[in-house]
Amino acid sequence: MKLKYDRGSVVCTAPSNIALVKYWGKKDIQIPLNPSISFTLDTCYTKTKADFELGDTQTQIEFYFHGESKPSFIPKLEVFIERVKDLYPWLGSLAKLTLHSENSFPHSSGIASSASGFGAMAMCFEKFNSEVLGEEIDLDRASNAARLGSGSACRSVFGGFNLWGELTEDLGDQSLSSQLTDIHPNFDDIKDAICIASSGEKSVGSSAGHSLMNNHVFGEQRINQAKDNCRELLSCLRSGDVWKAGELIEEEAMTLHALMMTSRPSYMLIRPNTVAMIEVIRQFREDEKTPVFFTLDAGPNPHVIYFNESRTLVEQKLLPKLKGLCENERIIMDQIGKGPKILESSFE
Ligand code: DP6
Repeated sequence: MKLKYDRGSVVCTAPSNIALVKYWGKKDIQIPLNPSISFTLDTCYTKTKADFELGDTQTQIEFYFHGESKPSFIPKLEVFIERVKDLYPWLGSLAKLTLHSENSFPHSSGIASSASGFGAMAMCFEKFNSEVLGEEIDLDRASNAARLGSGSACRSVFGGFNLWGELTEDLGDQSLSSQLTDIHPNFDDIKDAICIASSGEKSVGSSAGHSLMNNHVFGEQRINQAKDNCRELLSCLRSGDVWKAGELIEEEAMTLHALMMTSRPSYMLIRPNTVAMIEVIRQFREDEKTPVFFTLDAGPNPHVIYFNESRTLVEQKLLPKLKGLCENERIIMDQIGKGPKILESSFE
């Protein structure tokens, strides 16, 4: 393997994403049990600086989060590097990797940072790869690499709406996500206001949650339901039917948490104020006849999903009501975004 450089420094950002049809359960190495659809966020992102040094010595890894050394994260990184070696063979001669990472959103905000974190890291690897080999950047490969760090991260490598997982024979891929095209303009400015119900540590993490799907009593039905919901949501995204899309989005959020509650052992991540917020959102929609919906990821914080047409009403009348139900009145405002950015790079 002929390499143009043996050192380099790359700074990339990658946003988080919110799933509308949920990835829940996996097999083999990060292969999803069902297809999922998400949109990439804008203001909630991770910025990562990666310094690479190639050589003959044993690999040394350093990881800093907001300037603080985090040795506890190194084993996870070692697993990630081992998994992506087939995609980036020069990792076989990695002598030193120093990573400095920071999130644009508060640490205790309850927003999962694994999607943006591994998204940004995969983009740094891809950029270094393209320079040392003198090749074009390949976002499909970066998405595949991000998946090997955290499943949902593969959907953070592209902006807009994404599909990950095989939906039909010629649509969707198990190992990478693809940006959905021909989206109706009604969804152009889809928004996400993240209401922090609780920022505390979750009682059961996503990894344990995924594995409880392996012998789940509703496992098979869930896979079929997710496929149907992906198909139906895709058709709404193309026809512009925000009402039907909203119904599906809420069904998916409720299903995800119902699957947790009916796991063995059973567990529950929603809190009393999560339920109170859901009721306020549904009542507001009925009273105002305006399209505003909620979703949840694997945590207690409702994401309020709305559109330009409902923006004024939601931001002036609904969010103030929800604020009072949030921890420290905290709501994080976000919207659909364009995906990762390579901010700086240098090679020698
Ligand atoms: C509920 O991607 O965090 O947010 O692959 O184990 O890292 P790992 O799991 P992760 O799971 C996300 C689950 C979800 C739904 C989704 O984002 O699709």
